[in-house]
Amino acid sequence: MRDMGRFLQNFGEKTVKMIYFDKNRNTFYLEGKSFSYVFSVEEGYLHARHFGGRVGRDGLTWLNGAPAMAFSAMPPAGEGSTSLDVMPQEYASFGQGDYRTPSVLLEREDGQTASRFFYLSHEVGCTSDFGALPHARGGQTLKVTLKDVLSDVELDLFYTVWEDCDVLTRHAVIRNTGSEPVTICRAYSFCLDLPADRYETLCLHGHHCGERSPERTPLSHGTFRIESARGASSHQMNPFLALLRAGCGEETGECYGVELVYSGSFVLSAERSQTEGVRVQGGINALNFCWSLAAGEDFVTPEAALCYSKEGLGGLSRSLADFLRLHVISPKWAFAPRPVVLNSWEAVYFDFDEAKLLSLIDGAARTGADTFVLDDGWFGCRGDDTTSLGDWRVNLSKLKGGIAPLAARCRKHNMKFGLWFEPEMVSEKSELYRAHPDWAIGAPPRCACRNQYVLDFSRPEVVEYVYGQLAEILKTGDVAYVKWDMNRHLTEFWSKGLPAGRQGELAHRHILGVYTLARRLTEDFPEVLFEGCSGGGGRFDAGMLYYFPQIWTSDNTDAYARAKIQYGTSFAYPMSAMSCHISASPNHQTGRSTPFSSRAHIASLGATGFELNPAALSEEELEMAREHVRTYREMQPLVLQGDLYRLASPFEGDFAVLLLSKDKREGYLVGMCGLVEAGAYDRRLRLAGLREDFVYEIPALGIVARGDTLLHAGVLLPRLPDFGTFAWRIHGK
Ligand code: DGJ
Repeated sequence: MRDMGRFLQNFGEKTVKMIYFDKNRNTFYLEGKSFSYVFSVEEGYLHARHFGGRVGRDGLTWLNGAPAMAFSAMPPAGEGSTSLDVMPQEYASFGQGDYRTPSVLLEREDGQTASRFFYLSHEVGCTSDFGALPHARGGQTLKVTLKDVLSDVELDLFYTVWEDCDVLTRHAVIRNTGSEPVTICRAYSFCLDLPADRYETLCLHGHHCGERSPERTPLSHGTFRIESARGASSHQMNPFLALLRAGCGEETGECYGVELVYSGSFVLSAERSQTEGVRVQGGINALNFCWSLAAGEDFVTPEAALCYSKEGLGGLSRSLADFLRLHVISPKWAFAPRPVVLNSWEAVYFDFDEAKLLSLIDGAARTGADTFVLDDGWFGCRGDDTTSLGDWRVNLSKLKGGIAPLAARCRKHNMKFGLWFEPEMVSEKSELYRAHPDWAIGAPPRCACRNQYVLDFSRPEVVEYVYGQLAEILKTGDVAYVKWDMNRHLTEFWSKGLPAGRQGELAHRHILGVYTLARRLTEDFPEVLFEGCSGGGGRFDAGMLYYFPQIWTSDNTDAYARAKIQYGTSFAYPMSAMSCHISASPNHQTGRSTPFSSRAHIASLGATGFELNPAALSEEELEMAREHVRTYREMQPLVLQGDLYRLASPFEGDFAVLLLSKDKREGYLVGMCGLVEAGAYDRRLRLAGLREDFVYEIPALGIVARGDTLLHAGVLLPRLPDFGTFAWRIHGK
């Protein structure tokens, strides 16, 4: 055995409430609200033992399986008696006989890529320096330091747990302690080796105007991977993956969820191996990624949130929602009532001048909205999407008096004023591009998308310049709300600011630059609410939520489509993070006509607002708009603080969700029936989450019944016209 005395020298006997180290069994116990996460040091290697329901601090050594299988490679003589091929691990090295996907791949100066990480020390109660990388706040942290016995590289594995939630976060820091550079070819945030079972996966896939559709599939042998290589988390695949154990349903059974606190190119994979165990891992997408780590430097991976639920997918979603609201979203905004916005985009698109906007603001005031947001088209000489991104100065030919008169008109109505930006972009037709063509990622001829290029935020001078432009406007004090959009993905992946051998760093450096700008602006203008957006929900992830408490959920504002998008989004994110507006009918994206009440009910399931021209509303509709805002303000605490129960899936027919206060006394039940079918039978809706012994009243139905009655017998779904909705208050005691 290699000099274990050296590796074990820092074992201590420190006990902290949620993190316990048993020095006799060399075993770590991390304990959240109702789960345990257990691993131990065995012959220097980190051996994963358990992630799931709370267990005693009993070592679990009897769970050790066979030490090898046929064709398993064993560690070199004296360095372990279990093959890494079969050992469940905490972070998997390459080239040591574990043929499952490694968590880390390093290349040294002489071309060697094998690494063998051994336990060196650990520390409880530490912090990690994330720089601008978003990360969960607070909690109790364990750092386990490993040493690569084949090179001068150390690895810190961080684990954080909280008393108030069923989430554990992980990330890794790789440190070059030698004198030669090391190339990081892959550095995942975590590795979770789960025991053999028949698992299913659930991912959230989609496209522009159709984000985050849940898809559940049996996990077969081999590797199931979801990813984005677009430089953004993307509409196409969300950085969230759930693993469901056999029998897992919406409110029953066990499942795991993993969510990256990251907004760039990512990968999450689940690999079912010959042992039937499943390795779940992920982080920065290794495609086109490499990072040169100079002597003395370290590299911090993004954080991953790992969640365990024994109350099915619903429990998983509620735990993730609590985690994001309590520990990721800024405490200033997480539970604060959100503005009710009227956004100009679908009202006037690019076609406006000062007079038109002033009357739009007057109209917005009549809807009950408290914030008017001027969307795209107010800057440079932008009259369509071909010009001016990067020139963040008011378009004086459209808005002769600048934005001040608009903000003043808002103030007159006791409303706030907000403004749209797309800070990461530049149009070819812009002063900025003419002055700095090399500030765009790639070299000409570049791929264009929506006539624009991506600014190279891996270069600090570019970030600094954009900061200056935005800060200039925010300093006026006229802007209380910023909608931060991002309408194309990266191509070329080349920066003039990086040497030839380091271009693989660009995508990650770029997103770090995005975070740096977001951090500076949110810190310097703390009163401004920033809403995230990327052609709708193309960057709907926990990384963005760290800086932006809400995100425009989709460019598709059709109520029926939105019911699906919001339902899918709710698997991984809280309702309060979803920006949801009532738009015109027929809808601009689908052409579908839906009743005003349906649009209002679906838009009440998030940060509500309007995306229409009030001048086109009848007096009756205006009154419905005001009524919507009044009702919303009453039930908004449920959106901000409550729990969500998904009762019926719009992907299977009817849609129904229940928002329930934590004390289970107040609820808001919203549903939509799809297309009417002739002769359709009466369908029952069974409620969830209620306290069995409470008596609940549903005034809209004239029902007074015990919780268990509503849970087990349910209510009848109303018969409604196509795309009709219902929204019922529930009171219990
Ligand atoms: C895409 C966004 O998702 C829309 O809401 C709108 O802001 C447009 N961009 C403006 O170009």
